[in-house]
Amino acid sequence: MTAVPIEPRATNALSRWVRGPYPGDTAIGNIAPIADDNQDVTAQAIAREVETLRAALDGGRDDPRVRATCASTLERLRAQWRLTPEAFDLQTTAALKEIARALKANDGPGAPRPAFPPGAAREALKAIFGYDQFRPGQEEIISAVLAGRDCIGVMPTGAGKSLTYQIPARLLGGTTLVVSPLIALMKDQVDAMREVGLRATYLNSSLTPEERRERLQGLWSGAYELIYAAPEGLEASVGSALARTRLSLIAVDEAHCISQWGHDFRPAYRNLAGIKRRFGGAPVLALTATATREVMNDIVSQLAMSAPAEYRGSFFRRNLTLAAYKKGDGDASRAAGGVRGGILRFIRARPGKSGIVYCLSRKSAEGTAAFLRDEGIHAAAYHAGMPAEERSRTQDAFRRDDVDVIVATVAFGMGIDKPDIRYVIHRDMPRSIESYYQEVGRAGRDGLPSECVLFYSWADVISYDRFESEGSDDVQERQRDQVREMFRMADNGTRCRHQAVTSYLGESIAPCRGSCDVCTGADVLAACAETGGRRARRQRPQQPAAFERDAPSAAARGAMDEEGELFARLRELRRRLATERGIPAYMVFSDAVLLTMAATRPRTATAVLAISGVGPKKLSQYGDAFLAVLRGEPASAEAPLDYGEPLA
Ligand SMILES: Nc1ncnc2c1ncn2[C@@H]1O[C@H](COP(=O)(O)OP(=O)(O)OP(=O)(O)O)[C@@H](O)[C@H]1O
Ligand SMILES: [Mg+2]
Ligand SMILES: [Zn+2]
Repeated sequence: MTAVPIEPRATNALSRWVRGPYPGDTAIGNIAPIADDNQDVTAQAIAREVETLRAALDGGRDDPRVRATCASTLERLRAQWRLTPEAFDLQTTAALKEIARALKANDGPGAPRPAFPPGAAREALKAIFGYDQFRPGQEEIISAVLAGRDCIGVMPTGAGKSLTYQIPARLLGGTTLVVSPLIALMKDQVDAMREVGLRATYLNSSLTPEERRERLQGLWSGAYELIYAAPEGLEASVGSALARTRLSLIAVDEAHCISQWGHDFRPAYRNLAGIKRRFGGAPVLALTATATREVMNDIVSQLAMSAPAEYRGSFFRRNLTLAAYKKGDGDASRAAGGVRGGILRFIRARPGKSGIVYCLSRKSAEGTAAFLRDEGIHAAAYHAGMPAEERSRTQDAFRRDDVDVIVATVAFGMGIDKPDIRYVIHRDMPRSIESYYQEVGRAGRDGLPSECVLFYSWADVISYDRFESEGSDDVQERQRDQVREMFRMADNGTRCRHQAVTSYLGESIAPCRGSCDVCTGADVLAACAETGGRRARRQRPQQPAAFERDAPSAAARGAMDEEGELFARLRELRRRLATERGIPAYMVFSDAVLLTMAATRPRTATAVLAISGVGPKKLSQYGDAFLAVLRGEPASAEAPLDYGEPLA
């Protein structure tokens, strides 16, 4: 791996694309924003600003970032003109009109977009996120978006879809709108962006009027590269506020919510029809993890996307080990305690790891959570019958690693972006193969090995039949079929489970040969029983770190213990930093980064920066603290860690 200098190379043309068109690293650089109530809004100040704007545009007429940023500034000046027209003299107004014309020329929907230098996206991947390689599909989607095309990306959970609009947001300049259904998670999504140095914010109903005003002001002054909003808000005032902003890109996340054929239909997503036209034909990027062709076609037509580029990723998640047990059968109930006992042993054998246990009913979620808590496990229930506040408290505790296990109904669903969930257990069978795929997909989003254990029975099928359904006869019939398909898949002990699931999603793959119980014959529950709680020796598709490998020599074991201890110390530091900044631990650094640190023990900032997943922003924020631990310097537990400002 080549060493990467910490300072951005000022002379490198690519760096300029990645950082921004102006010096000073802000969208509007040396052009100061004007506040509504600024007493000094004088004709001279505005004239000076218009001059600066003209100079900036002259300096980079063919540079899409410069153009986008100038367009944002122009919008702001227009807004200012509406407020204080007297502050604009004739000459200034004429200059502004001239700038508007220059920006408009060559800017229609069919206008050629200047090509980005080759490698710009990859440079941004390293410079912002600290990753060396794109994951499958990311580069294809980003290229299509940078070329100004509409694009639909269908990639499994955890594949890294977010990055396909975050990198264009930086490269395109101006503002990228991210439509996301997850109001509760917007703050975290925005915090995560700020952690890597992207200028992001959100507009939704949770803001006070004052916060809202400030953010809109910021938006109009071009202060944000990314703005998150929910579809409900876009229909209301957020939409009209945005109408004054030039959008470089509209990213519609969780786009399947627009389709009633999808499993999470949200009526408000229908409001997005026409969004492209409304925002002057800005390119639309639709992203989803839901695979069916039907849903995909629906998304394209609902969003009125024009000849979109299409990327469909593979749905095979090799890092998930799938296993199934029939309830009441010998294997599951052989050891004491039946399903519950099995779940308990499984969880005990993975202390400190994050996991989800899915149950069919609220009652069983609560009962199972209480049972686990009685056994000393940090578990909490989650279901739709709980007050919203309690639900978000529980989810927060899980995200912040204060709770290890969430015992939930399917209400604990979309938007769980905790990357280090190490197992998903189905205490009861899911209602369809698609639901199963979505639910197990919440494990191992960081790509590290994770386990999925399914308990199923014919009684579960009967329970689903009994649930009242609001759908038409057709829909109910289809649901009955889906439950039975799920049962047959679980009960089929001869077909590779990954093969069965992906084939259901329309993809054909060879047997996994290492990531399911059918292929390996591994019995994960029996293994927990035999080892009495210690990690069982199992066949694994990938080895996450040296200290999890099988049968080490005595010397190697010593080294591994050390590595394990170092990893624990790094985790502890991560936890302190995260608590101090009020963000989830994984936002500081992922497990993968800490594992690499423990294994390679970097001693210098340059070596830390070379780790995949460490970008310059995080290095400057946290590098010294982690280097101190890596160098074995005594960490005083009481000393306050003052790395970076706490996030609001
Ligand atoms: N090129 C990359 N190299 C390494 N890690 C990456 C890369 N791209 C994304 N990731 C990481 O993968 C994880 C999942 O990414 P992301 O949240 O974008 O997934 P997603 O596709 O949106 O999934 P979901 O459908 O669940 O929303 C994140 O922790 C992200 O930082
Ligand atoms: Mg996502
Ligand atoms: Zn298999």
